[in-house]
Amino acid sequence: MSKVLNDEGWNLLFREARTHNTWLDVPVDDGLLRQAYDLAKMGPTSANMCPMRVVFVKSNEAKEKLKPALDAGNVDKTMRAPVTAIIGMDIHFYEKLPVLYPHADAKAWFKDLPEIVLEYTALRNSSLQGAYFMLAARSLGLDCGPMSGFNNQKVDAAFFAGTTVKSNFLCNLGHGDPSKLHPRNPRLGFDEACKVL
Ligand SMILES: Cc1cc2nc3c(=O)[nH]c(=O)nc-3n(C[C@H](O)[C@H](O)[C@H](O)COP(=O)(O)O)c2cc1C
Repeated sequence: MSKVLNDEGWNLLFREARTHNTWLDVPVDDGLLRQAYDLAKMGPTSANMCPMRVVFVKSNEAKEKLKPALDAGNVDKTMRAPVTAIIGMDIHFYEKLPVLYPHADAKAWFKDLPEIVLEYTALRNSSLQGAYFMLAARSLGLDCGPMSGFNNQKVDAAFFAGTTVKSNFLCNLGHGDPSKLHPRNPRLGFDEACKVL
């Protein structure tokens, strides 16, 4: 069996995958969200810390709770999306390390670090996991609409009060309406963004 993806796979994940703002009225089954998480969780994180925690906002009640935290430009698209994933991060991710990284005392490496260091460590790794999640969702035929235009404190108060989880970014999920997409913006070419030394 070939160990590389083919054009169809690259198109699905990258070349033809777009950020969607308009959603078709097609529901997203919870089983698909579970499948996307089960693929995404296999992506690598520092010391296998897996800090990402996800809340899938689906019900009207949960959407109303999210609405006041959204920037004005993100309200309509989010209210119309079948699902909005709140990609969160557990700042005290080290509590799970005895299970996730059992061959060393990895908890000791992190637990006494200043909160700011824990936070940027969780941010780096949960952002990676959020990206793995978007690629996993795309590989299952879902479209994504990631957003950072929201008030993190409000989301944390509404969804993560009394926990050590904080919000990182939001991601609308569903089946996008391709007829509503604007033309793709350019990307930096290899020679603009990369160097081989
Ligand atoms: C972390 C992140 C935050 C974003 N925040 C917003 C946002 O708040 N509102 C919005 O309309 N689009 C937002 N976007 C969408 C980007 O503008 C979009 O992904 C980018 O222009 C690429 O579009 P394309 O995938 O269709 O090529 C965000 C994307 C990412 C990855």
